[in-house]
Amino acid sequence: MAGLTKQYTFDYEEYNSIDDLSAADAHLVLEARKATEIAYAPYSNFLVGAYAVLNSGEFIKGSNQENASYPVGVCAERALLASVGQLFPNEPIVSMAISYNNLNGESNRPLSPCGMCRQALQEYEGRVHQPIRLLLSGMEGKVYVISKSTNLLPFSFSGDDLK
Ligand code: THU
Repeated sequence: MAGLTKQYTFDYEEYNSIDDLSAADAHLVLEARKATEIAYAPYSNFLVGAYAVLNSGEFIKGSNQENASYPVGVCAERALLASVGQLFPNEPIVSMAISYNNLNGESNRPLSPCGMCRQALQEYEGRVHQPIRLLLSGMEGKVYVISKSTNLLPFSFSGDDLK
């Protein structure tokens, strides 16, 4: 007997530039782009910035922090999540903008968060029971808006699997 073919799909929004975003979203993206300036990425020259607004209305930023021992480096998204965990524990994140400045190439396509960060974003969503809306871009060009980070991680492993 043939197996059932199933589908995984999700909707996301595509904007041609930040000019088409609400003022609040454009602000988050601009600040994420600015946060690339505090990245420490002398090995990859790929500067990533993240900027989020919390339910409380507070803002928090993150950037990638590399290390001569490459695997020790941390991505901007996880640096930001670690800061939220310390400074505003259990405070839900409404939206997180993530941008990058690739000093070796172009920075005009939306960033695709790495798998490890998708897992970390999913954990935080589950921890506070609220989805994180993602605004993905480079330094210019299109912006993708994704309503929850778990859309980017189908068939994910979570704490529920450990029960
Ligand atoms: N990086 C991030 O900070 N976030 C991502 O989503 C993708 C990759 C960083 C890790 C490393 O410092 C550099 O970008 C190149 O991979």
